[in-house]
Order: sequence, then C-alpha cells, then structure tokens
Amino acid sequence: MSANRPAAVVVLAAGEGTRMKSKTPKVLHEIAGRSLVGHVVSAARELEPEHLVVVVGHAREQVTAHLDAHYAGTRTAVQYEQNGTGHAVRMGLEELGQAPEGTVVVVCGDTPLLSGETLKALAGTHAADGNAVTVLTAEVPDSTGYGRIVRDASGAVTAIVEHKDASEEQRAIKEINSGVFAFDGRLLADALGKVRTDNSQGEEYLTDVLSILREAGHRVGASVAGDHREILGINNRVQLAEARALLNRRLLERAMTAGVTVVDPSSVLVDVMVTFEPDSVIHPGTQLLGATHIGEDAEVGPNSRLKDTRVGKGARVDNTVADSAVIGEGASVGPYAYLRPGTNLGVRAKAGTYVEMKNATIGEGTKVPHLSYVGDATIGEYTNIGAASVFVNYDGEAKHHTTVGSHCKTGSDNMFVAPVTIGDGAYTAAGSVITKDVPSGALAVARGQQRNIEGWVARKRPGSAAAQAAQAVTEEPAGES
Ligand code: UD1
Ligand code: CA
Repeated sequence: MSANRPAAVVVLAAGEGTRMKSKTPKVLHEIAGRSLVGHVVSAARELEPEHLVVVVGHAREQVTAHLDAHYAGTRTAVQYEQNGTGHAVRMGLEELGQAPEGTVVVVCGDTPLLSGETLKALAGTHAADGNAVTVLTAEVPDSTGYGRIVRDASGAVTAIVEHKDASEEQRAIKEINSGVFAFDGRLLADALGKVRTDNSQGEEYLTDVLSILREAGHRVGASVAGDHREILGINNRVQLAEARALLNRRLLERAMTAGVTVVDPSSVLVDVMVTFEPDSVIHPGTQLLGATHIGEDAEVGPNSRLKDTRVGKGARVDNTVADSAVIGEGASVGPYAYLRPGTNLGVRAKAGTYVEMKNATIGEGTKVPHLSYVGDATIGEYTNIGAASVFVNYDGEAKHHTTVGSHCKTGSDNMFVAPVTIGDGAYTAAGSVITKDVPSGALAVARGQQRNIEGWVARKRPGSAAAQAAQAVTEEPAGES
C-alpha cells in the first residue's frame, strides 16, 4: 500500500459535453477500448484510495450503469444541476458523509491520458510539502479556455483565474490548471463552503478554493506536469482522435521497449488491455483490440484486426480478422482468413486462404488450407480438409455439429451435412456430399457417377472449334505422306 494513499478520489463527470455533438455522454466515449471515465478511474485506482467517488449528472443513469458494470467498487454522487466544479466536488464529499480526514484528490472525467504515476507524484509532492492544496499545472502552447495559474514575484501560486474572468495580461500566461488537485480533505470541505458565484459563469469554481486557502494562511503548492499532453481534456471529437493517437503511441512505445517489433507504429492501433510477449512482430495496418494477447515470436499482419484473440508462440497471422479466437503455437492463419468466436486452432494447425471458422476446435497439425467454411465442428489431429469444403451446420432452423477424426484426408469440394461424424483415418472423395457417418478407415464416395458420351461434340456441334480440335487428335490425318 502506498504511503500517500488518499482518503478519497473525486472524479468530476457530471457535465454534458455538448461539443461532442453526440447522444452518448462525453465520458462514455471510448479510446483504446476503454471509456474516457474508465481511463480516469483506472488511473485513480492506482492511488488505492479508500473511496472513489464519481460525480454524475448529465445522463447519470447511463454513466452509473457503465461504472457498475465495469468499475465495481466506485461510488457515485449525483449533481442534479451543473453549478460548477466546486459545487460538483461538494456533492462528491456529501456522498462520503463527513469531510474526509487525509488527502482528497480531484480529477476530471474527461482527461483520459492522465497516468497513475502522475497522480502518485502529485500526491507525493502534496504530502512531502505539507500543503493544504497542490494543483497539477502544465505549460501549454495555447492556453485558450483554460484557467491560468497566477504566481507572485516569489513564484508562489496566488490564484487560478478562469479564461472568461481573466485580464489581457493574465490571458498571456501559458501555465494552466490541469483540473487535477490534491487537497487536505477537511480544509477543502471548509473552503468549498466559502466559494461564491460572482464570476462570469455564475458557477461555484473549485479553483477559487486555492485563493481562499491561501488567504487563510495555508500552504498552496503547484506541481508542473512533465508532459502537457497528459492533461489533454476531451471536449470534442478532434481532441478525442488526438488523445487516441497519443495513447496509441504510448502503448506501442511500451510494447517496443519490452521487445516487440512494430514495423510501422503509425498504422497500428492497439487497445489498453492488449498484452505482448517479446520478439513478436506487428506488421503495418494491424488493429489489436480488446484483451488480445500476442505470444513470443508470433507475427501478426499486415492488415489484420484481432479482437479478444490469443495468438500462440511463433504463430503467423496474415491479413486476418479474428474475434474471440485462440490461435495455437506455431499455427498459420491467412492470408485472408476470418476466425469468429469459439475458434480454437491447435498447435501448428492451419486456417489458410479464404477460410472462415466459427465455434470450431481444430486439432494439432490439422490443416484447412483453402476456400472453406468450418462452423460448429471438432476436427482431430493431423487431418487435412480438402479445398472448398463446407461444414453445412445450418438446416434452416437449427445449428448442428460435425466431428472429423484424426489423420483423415477429406477430398476437395466436400459438403459435410451436420450432424455427421467422420472416423479416424477415413478418406472422402472429392465432390462428396457427406450426409451419413463415415467409419474409421473407410473411403466415402458420395457423388454422381461419371458417364462419357463418345462423339457427342462431333454430332451435336459439327464444325465448331471444339469439334475440329477433337477431330485433330482422335482421327488419323488423311492423305499425307
Ligand atoms: C476547468 C477548470 C479550469 C481548467 C480546466 C482544465 C474550473 C472552474 N475550471 O475548466 O481551470 O483549466 O478545467 O480542463 O474548475 N463538471 C461537473 N459539474 C459541473 C461542472 C463541471 O461535474 O457543474 C465536470 C465536467 O464534467 C468536467 C470537469 O468537471 O469533467 C471540468 O468541467 P469543464 O466545464 O470542462 O471545465 P473547464 O471550463 O474546462
Ligand atoms: Ca474541460
């Protein structure tokens, strides 16, 4: 447990986010497989606070349901009207009952790039300096819209002035309020009671707490963020994409540092939950989503999209779409394969070109190399499925299962009409429609007999190019020496 474990973290997420122009509340928009508020809650959890309270307001049923489903243990406080950030924190503290003894960290629900490390560093500075409040600030190239950090001649922070309330001189200040604070809980609760609404927006500003505490003689500190991009707040979809790109770069750099080759990071998208083992290689145009895992020496891409998929050690996955699939060690997938949920490809198995699989367990060394659909099936080890085969699993009403044994060789263009079972070591002839079980070791032939009608072309298509070609090889040339 960290020495600077706060009493509470309060996440502000009551605002509407009108600039998103969306029916989805802003904090539920996603980047890298996680909602904006989910990113903030995840970072906040790294502080191991005693209480984690999310202040909800706009679309609160939806936001609360999301938190309950994915972030059990977080509490919500309702702010019925959005009367400002100070008012929102007041609602958060009310949810906790009495003012917490110890540190209260406040963060906004729309800053998904904020890391747990930065929050820990802020809490550390706050405790080490014995501050009543410590604000996380950043130097930004364009401070428009942000609250400006006002310092006195000695460099001490005296106030935060909102953009709309700032003078020309103050607007020139490049150091801004990130919206992240560490407070002494009791002093915060006291000061919030003194915040007034005599500002351009008629709101209770959390930022006013800083000057209130300072004027009461308490220590006010600031901690400058190393990278201003980390505190990027999302207000519109341009910033959403910007944050996605920054986070993506951060995730890929972490992977590359840990031994993963990413050939072209600018064309690879990766979600936060994705994990890699060293010496894996990710080729251009690849999206790794959800809880996908890439094993050691595996190669994925180009142009592949894997979601919640496990790629085994040394497997090769090329131009493939996979969802909730398991790809075994040394297996080969694609180019142009589609692995749907429930596909379980064994060690060194193959799902080749234009092959679709669903709810299928494929044994070690078994190959489905070309142009086939394998749905609702179990195939044993070292079996070869001929090109252009279909596991006919659907009779129009229900799905049925097909079982194929080990060491089978099935012919090209087979239809396995489920439910049906092919025994170990069995063969099937090309073009067969297999509707009955095939015993082990048997050859099944299930197709029309071939019949050749001699001389048909000469009789029915006389004089045609076909007839002439046939005549040239079937008749003795006449009158030549
Ligand atoms: C706020 C800060 C500003 C800072 C900026 C950083 C204040 C007064 N201003 O401004 O100094 O530079 O963040 O991004 O604090 N919220 C509520 N209830 C409310 C109002 C807001 O929950 O009544 C939430 C919003 O959902 C959002 C966060 O608080 O997550 C910040 O609110 P927002 O309106 O975006 O504040 P800014 O004007 O950006
Ligand atoms: Ca904002």
